[in-house]
Amino acid sequence: MKTNQTFTIIKPDAVSNGHTGAILSKIAEAGFRFKALKMTRLSQTAAEAFYAVHNERPFFNNLVSFMASGPIVVAVLEKDNAVDDFRTLIGTTDPEAAAEGTIRKSFASSVGENAIHGSDSDENAVIEIAFHFTESEQF
Ligand code: RTP
Ligand code: MG
Repeated sequence: MKTNQTFTIIKPDAVSNGHTGAILSKIAEAGFRFKALKMTRLSQTAAEAFYAVHNERPFFNNLVSFMASGPIVVAVLEKDNAVDDFRTLIGTTDPEAAAEGTIRKSFASSVGENAIHGSDSDENAVIEIAFHFTESEQF
């Protein structure tokens, strides 16, 4: 199944460091349209559910407590080739390895606290969008 949508989270580190506006600008300048957007906060249980795919990984507990540690901004983005183009825009998981000009290179401080999430496939984008937004919240 091919879609032209992806899902993003501006993570608690980037929100608390005041980078929300700059990151939203970079996303818009890269040609993504906002189909849904809100500030919210994940409970510990919701963070565990969202990252359940990683529940066997050694970093799982740190990841969940970090993602539940403060407000986040979630959005549905639309563009041709949205998933791959957005992963290019955000850069590699470890910001030290990320290319110049990527969002993680500019705004992330570590592999654990790396400013932003982007869906890794069309299938997961559909699942993640439905996790955070009802149909009536998408425009
Ligand atoms: P994301 O899902 O958040 O967009 O990140 P990603 O695809 O680039 O990386 P993924 O492998 O899905 O990992 C999810 C998040 O777990 C944290 N992580 N910590 N070695 C570590 O300490 C480690 N590895 C991964 C990161 O916050 C990563 O974004
Ligand atoms: Mg991932």
